[in-house]
Amino acid sequence: MAKETILVIDFGGQYNQLIARRVREASVYCEIIPCSTDIERIKEYNPKGIIFTGGPGSVYEEEAPKVDERVFELGVPILGICYGAQLMSHVLGGKVISATAREYGQFEIEMKSSKIFEGISTPNVCLMSHTDKIVELPEGFRVIATTANCPVAAYENEEKKFYGVQFHPEVNHTRFGKELLKNFVLGICGCSGDWKMDSFIDETVTALREQIGDKQVILGLSGGVDSSVAAGLLSRAIGKNLTCVFVDQGLMRKNEGDFVEQTFTKLFDMNFVRVNCQKVFLEKLKGVTDPERKRHIIGDEFYNAFWDEIKTRAGGDAFFAQGTIYPDRIESGKGKLGKTAGSDVIKTHHNQREIPKDIKFLGVIEPLKDLFKDEVRAVGEKLGIPHELVWRQPFPGPGLGVRIIGEITAEKIRILQDADFVLRDEMAKNGYEKNLSQFFCVFTGSKSVGVMGDHRTYENVIAIRAVTTDDFMTADWARIPYDILAAVSNRITNEVDGVNRIVYDITSKPPGTVEWE
Ligand code: XMP
Repeated sequence: MAKETILVIDFGGQYNQLIARRVREASVYCEIIPCSTDIERIKEYNPKGIIFTGGPGSVYEEEAPKVDERVFELGVPILGICYGAQLMSHVLGGKVISATAREYGQFEIEMKSSKIFEGISTPNVCLMSHTDKIVELPEGFRVIATTANCPVAAYENEEKKFYGVQFHPEVNHTRFGKELLKNFVLGICGCSGDWKMDSFIDETVTALREQIGDKQVILGLSGGVDSSVAAGLLSRAIGKNLTCVFVDQGLMRKNEGDFVEQTFTKLFDMNFVRVNCQKVFLEKLKGVTDPERKRHIIGDEFYNAFWDEIKTRAGGDAFFAQGTIYPDRIESGKGKLGKTAGSDVIKTHHNQREIPKDIKFLGVIEPLKDLFKDEVRAVGEKLGIPHELVWRQPFPGPGLGVRIIGEITAEKIRILQDADFVLRDEMAKNGYEKNLSQFFCVFTGSKSVGVMGDHRTYENVIAIRAVTTDDFMTADWARIPYDILAAVSNRITNEVDGVNRIVYDITSKPPGTVEWE
């Protein structure tokens, strides 16, 4: 597809995917590439503009991430963000030093007239997160914004179309960030903003038919948004030549396995295979309480159940398809959780693993590999996948396994599924779910004393967790109105056997995480 492309050159910052998302929101196609990318490869993209991301390094240090300096000779507009701004200034002859204190948080910013600030009011509010600072600009550059602590909050060389911002325009905490990025890609780089999803389905279906011919395709369906939309696309392209394998390990939400099965067998033309293996999972998880061990066991068992089933079907004459999306495959030295290189792994995610060596396929098909989540959802809606599936909140691979603290048993799963069902039902009825990024119940593993009539009870404590977030790297606990919490609490304690107390989790991330385990 020949399209206008903006390249985001990645220096390891934590918000890099957000930069690309914002560019795509301006209807401009955009790819993220590592800063080590060869200059010839960069030229092949024929970019209309380049954005340097932030990153954890210090430009004046030997081992700091660098980019081939010939990038400044391409005649292409460049926007440097945070580390990217420092790097551009440093390479072109300016001076960057370590500041005495880290500047972190929202700050008032004063801006001068510049193309990059067109239509943006001043003073305004931006998010700063840096320790180093620019103290001298290269020749031909001028300061275009300042904050109380940061004399070079933004700079430009209008003739060369080089811009640098010390703050982070990609996060919502910079109130004018979206407009600034739009000004860069549309105004300064001259992109037309015509990257649309409309033609994506037709083009992809045609390409899939050509690639697959009359061969078979096997797809692992988790019931999540990505694999569901991939299944929808493939079903439209090849109908019954698609086989979807859905492993139900018994750790999904109440009735979810049946819902997924009904959706795909009724609405789409395909072969649907459901592997029910709750018993095996419970057996393997008996007596296990450590969160990481639980994750590993669930991951391993899922992998085994899935591939054991597929082995019976793949005869070396089929393609394997998966719902990989763009953020899953961006090379950037970061783990799946977006932790920067070198940081400790806080939780192990098991969603992506290699295909076993002894299973041979004609090739791997990833029809959504260039799309961000919002774009995947847009495709899903257009394909007629039910709203409930397309807008499904994220659900962790290990399922309710990481929402039951301590040992997992069938009884605890039943209690948690029933409580969580009530929460979701209430939130759907009163419409408050649209304000939340993720919400669910947790089986806390604590028991508490209560009263029921004249009797003393000693039963389970269920926690409600609800967060708002843009990217799940940070999250705020949701301020759900008390009336709603009261209704949920009443219903759970009345309707779910074995629960006598409900608590509401008021921890943000950090220091908490979204899930409890
Ligand atoms: P945390 O708990 O790390 O969650 O703040 C951030 C987001 O990731 C989801 N999550 C997982 N997803 N496998 C997954 O596929 C996992 O092991 C896992 N752990 C957490 C979590 O639901 C939230 O959306």
